[in-house]
Amino acid sequence: MSKTTDLADRMAAVQPFHVMELLAQARQLEAEGRDIVHMEIGEPDFETPTPIVQAGIEALKLGKHHYTPATGLPELRQAISGFYQQKYKVSVDPKRILITPGSSGALILLMSVLINPGQQVLMADPGYPCNRNFVRLVDGEVISIPVTVETGYQLNLEYLKQYWNHNSRAVMVASPANPTGTLIAEYEMRSIADFVAEMGGHMIVDEIYHGLTYGVNEQTAVAISDDVFVINSFSKFFGMTGWRLGWLVAPEAYVEALDKVAQNIFLAASTPAQYAALAAFKPETMFELERRRQIFEQRRDYLLPALRRIGFEIPVTPEGAFYLYANCKRFTDDSYQFCLDLLQQEGVAVTPGKDFGLNKPEQHLRFAYTTSLERLEKGVTRLQKFVTT
Ligand SMILES: Cc1ncc(COP(=O)(O)O)c(C=O)c1O
Repeated sequence: MSKTTDLADRMAAVQPFHVMELLAQARQLEAEGRDIVHMEIGEPDFETPTPIVQAGIEALKLGKHHYTPATGLPELRQAISGFYQQKYKVSVDPKRILITPGSSGALILLMSVLINPGQQVLMADPGYPCNRNFVRLVDGEVISIPVTVETGYQLNLEYLKQYWNHNSRAVMVASPANPTGTLIAEYEMRSIADFVAEMGGHMIVDEIYHGLTYGVNEQTAVAISDDVFVINSFSKFFGMTGWRLGWLVAPEAYVEALDKVAQNIFLAASTPAQYAALAAFKPETMFELERRRQIFEQRRDYLLPALRRIGFEIPVTPEGAFYLYANCKRFTDDSYQFCLDLLQQEGVAVTPGKDFGLNKPEQHLRFAYTTSLERLEKGVTRLQKFVTT
């Protein structure tokens, strides 16, 4: 007898990552001996910096395996507060900093405490796909705003004035953003924060790609207002994706509620990961992370003009993260099929636009420069061949 499932209605809207299907095919081709250039992977190709790994090992050896408080290790909250002071010259009370299992954990906490069923959360399309699902998990409604090149694919005050209504509760922005790598200018961030405050709503700013910026000095939204919710992570800049550690800076009045949800759904973030992360702010780690940032910048500086020369349109120069969001309409009106064919014929894996929303996904691809310059060059040569044959 076949097993049937009786899933909750909300599951109907939860999409898988289409790139996973491509990744599975890529792995299959590799198993058959094919060489695949991976430009689809959304995590740094570097190992976690040695001082962090060492601190993690040390914690395990010393028996630091027990739960921490749900809000996180006090020393780590303090260290993050020090980081804000040092990097952005902003004072943040460590009490406002909650340690979470990745920034994904922070997003679950936020949606749980802020969104009632049916209330709207506004966000840009294209955007990080999981954000829609965090909202759906609490039966909120996602308002995906189709953004354009003119605003660097970011939300701005005009969009908010157009889309905000009596049922809107929060807006989420990311700077730098996934998949576009673009930032929101500080004045724009301020005007969004002011508008949302005036409307009695909430602003959530995702700063997970902070630190990975090129030619600009990003400012944290923590500096804009104590009422903004800011999420960040040890995943990307600090190279700790698999350790599952992030944080949230919340307005003080919300900390108790967030703590209560964290106690119930996580108990705490991983203890060894938290001890390891204490080494993330050491000068030697920072030195290494800056070296890596420069490598990412070199890769962007190579890949961006190379893709433009081939004929992909990348109208805004991405100043952060490790992604290029390219319009491929010159070559196809079905970017997913383009990805499948590119993988099969030339062994290059990239992410199709449909993983990021419904705003002309068939015309877009995301290239991640999370592989070496040498491999990127190989990928570009193969891409050139693919579009000309
Ligand atoms: C924009 C953005 N936000 C949040 C996340 C979640 O990352 P993590 O849970 O590893 O901190 C990602 C991961 O790719 C991302 O791209």
